[in-house]
Amino acid sequence: MSKSTCTVTINGKKIKANVGDTLIDAGLGGRLVLPHDCCSGQCETCRVRVLSGDVDDLGTREKNSVLGCLAVLEGDAEISYDPVPIVKTIKGTVESIRKIKEDYLEVRVRTAKRVTWLPGQYLRATFAGYPPRDYSPTTPLNLDAELDVVVFHIKVYPNSIVSSKLGSEIDKGHSVKLRGPFGNGFLRRQPEPLVLTSTGTGFAPIWSIAVAASLGQPDREIKMIVGSRTREGLYMRDAVRWLRNRGIPITLTASDGDDETVMKARPYELLGDLTEDHIVYSAGAPSHVEATRELALAAGATFYADPFYVAEESNGLRTLANTILRKAKTPFASAAAS
Ligand code: FES
Repeated sequence: MSKSTCTVTINGKKIKANVGDTLIDAGLGGRLVLPHDCCSGQCETCRVRVLSGDVDDLGTREKNSVLGCLAVLEGDAEISYDPVPIVKTIKGTVESIRKIKEDYLEVRVRTAKRVTWLPGQYLRATFAGYPPRDYSPTTPLNLDAELDVVVFHIKVYPNSIVSSKLGSEIDKGHSVKLRGPFGNGFLRRQPEPLVLTSTGTGFAPIWSIAVAASLGQPDREIKMIVGSRTREGLYMRDAVRWLRNRGIPITLTASDGDDETVMKARPYELLGDLTEDHIVYSAGAPSHVEATRELALAAGATFYADPFYVAEESNGLRTLANTILRKAKTPFASAAAS
């Protein structure tokens, strides 16, 4: 007869749990809150490493990691996760909205208290009177970061509920609440070579990761591939010079590329030979992230990405899209939409 209780060790802490508990519930039983957000397999925030033992991953396994909100204990197990900042809600106001390029805005929010996030994580922004949207905070393109100012890159979708109101109904002085940080696609201080790739405003988390890695680990090998549907959409062309000057190879791609300054290729086609030593971060369109994920995991590389939502559509569509992706074991891209 199988035993109904077991012991789970989480980041070294032993906790009594029930067989069948999710890893998040097991942690809570020991007053340990694993990082989480949606609790329904969508956001990737709860991804933890299984070091040993009996865990039913319920289809969420990638290398040795599983989603803690879905995976359940089948017996004793040991898991670990990377510490992340505590989730908080912080009030702020829109400081500025600047058009970077047609359809791409930089939105700065001045906050009442410091927002702490790791490069690659995302925040839930609620502009007063509008539904919440998830955006990746990022490093300003011209690197003029200020304390207590959070910067987002936001693509404007015509007739959308939130993004199309930026610069008009939502403008300087508008109240905002920021909740977070969430997500699993954040930079870890590992020594292995980094491959960073994005499309569209997926550049926001990838840029913040690249800048932080370049400054914090100047000897780390980094390669970056940044794509857009068209050359016009490469809103970061000037900014990436800073990284190039620091010796980081950056390839820009677009469907109308000239094959000189901008390659006519899809970013994932230029990943090169990945090995199990590589750590790959991908953000942007779901098709891009999924292609990157397949190549990275096939090579045995470590892969990080967070969900991508085009949240200007109805919540029903958003949920459905993620459900389909999860069932197909083909999650997600990065948060930086609408
Ligand atoms: S909390 Fe598990 S995927 Fe969101």
